[in-house]
Amino acid sequence: MSNQFANLVVGDASAQNPLPILKGTIGPDAVDVRALLDKQGLLTFDPGFRSTASCQSAITYIDGDKGQLLYRGYPIEQLAAQCNFDEVAHLLMHGELPNAEELASFQQDLRDHNLLHDQVLSFYRGFRRDAHPMAVMVGVVGALSAFYQDSQDYNRDADQQKAAIRLVAKMPAIAAASFTYSAGRPIRHPDNSLDYASNFLQMMFGKPNEPYIVDPVLAKAIELIMILHADHEQNASTSTVRMAASSGANPFACLSAGIATLWGPAHGGANEAVLLMLEEIGSPERIPDVVKRAKDKNDPFRLMGFGHRVYKNYDPRAAIIRDTTLNVLSHLGMENSPLMATALELERIALSDEYFIKKKLYPNVDFYSGILLRAMGFPSRMFTAVFAVARTVGWVSHWLELKQEGHGIDRPRQLYTGPTPRQLER
Ligand code: CMC
Repeated sequence: MSNQFANLVVGDASAQNPLPILKGTIGPDAVDVRALLDKQGLLTFDPGFRSTASCQSAITYIDGDKGQLLYRGYPIEQLAAQCNFDEVAHLLMHGELPNAEELASFQQDLRDHNLLHDQVLSFYRGFRRDAHPMAVMVGVVGALSAFYQDSQDYNRDADQQKAAIRLVAKMPAIAAASFTYSAGRPIRHPDNSLDYASNFLQMMFGKPNEPYIVDPVLAKAIELIMILHADHEQNASTSTVRMAASSGANPFACLSAGIATLWGPAHGGANEAVLLMLEEIGSPERIPDVVKRAKDKNDPFRLMGFGHRVYKNYDPRAAIIRDTTLNVLSHLGMENSPLMATALELERIALSDEYFIKKKLYPNVDFYSGILLRAMGFPSRMFTAVFAVARTVGWVSHWLELKQEGHGIDRPRQLYTGPTPRQLER
């Protein structure tokens, strides 16, 4: 807390109602309104939480105007260029990059916990083959709450750490199985001779009748996607995980709630929606019509992959993914990809259009990731599932932070607009 106060004037302009101002390490200060209801009988009104810090957190920082993203203080560009996913996961979960010994132990933990219980595999058969992978993941991750009865004292640090590792270790297998099941192929187990990202690829694309050979360029690209999506402070899915966790709910159930929230097209579902949009546009000549529709107030259509609640500048993740996409397309001999040509032209036209400039709408992380994933062989229905695998690290980091600070239950209030008291007359 600082020794500064904000003054709230209610009624008489001379009234003094000092509210403490809280200071973070960087970013906007926060007016502490916790005592407002008790002292003034007033609530704050902020639907959508545009001006509300719902918690304090030391994990991730975003400066939306600068287009800056930091994990535990490190710029995302440096982490993406110099670290592997396991190091970034350790950084987010434990606060520091690991030394060689810590990294080896963390990786061993991930390997020790990456298998799915045989009974979990039988859940898949209860789903329709055409079920969306995110629907399957919501179900399977929630169902894991019924396992691990011997380590469910989540007030104990050891049980918290074990649940966190289990979630990060198993999520690639859970996501990959939701795809292989829908494709009618046998579910593949992790291969402990491979790293986290390569393992995900082999579980997704490996076939029972031939060895899977990891393409290092593709493995690097999926690892990059995982690093870039690993955390993003109090977004809708992370806030959901935190709110569910505030009641003391089982961590697997909390993560299931996060996956359900991520699925929406305004959040993680956007990468799938971007690709559908680009396919619908078909060729660069049709872009002006689409941009016109996006600007039309009477048309609900929005340019998918554009705009962000926090970034009012180029999303730093989008720039990295655009370059990686160009690299992977060239590696695969797909440099003439019509989807990429359409996306680049759409970006060019939108960024020079008054509407997008004025509203500060820039490409977000989802704008190019769908093209990249498609080129690597992921079906569009798996795009958000890949995002969920990557974001699991962020969700568990926030879950650990919340458990460790002993947070009480979240309970927002409301501005009631329903009927005043009335009598039932019969
Ligand atoms: N295309 C056209 N107009 C847009 C767009 C867009 N993509 N995004 C925002 N606007 C307009 C919107 O119509 C509104 O105009 P006006 O002020 O005239 O009513 C203004 O910009 C502000 O929009 P908003 O909905 O109040 O902004 P928000 O901060 O609440 O929404 C958003 C952020 C990401 C939901 C929104 O930009 C959007 O729907 N984008 C498309 C979906 C998308 O790409 N989502 C992925 C988000 S990044 C990944 C993640 O974090 O999960």
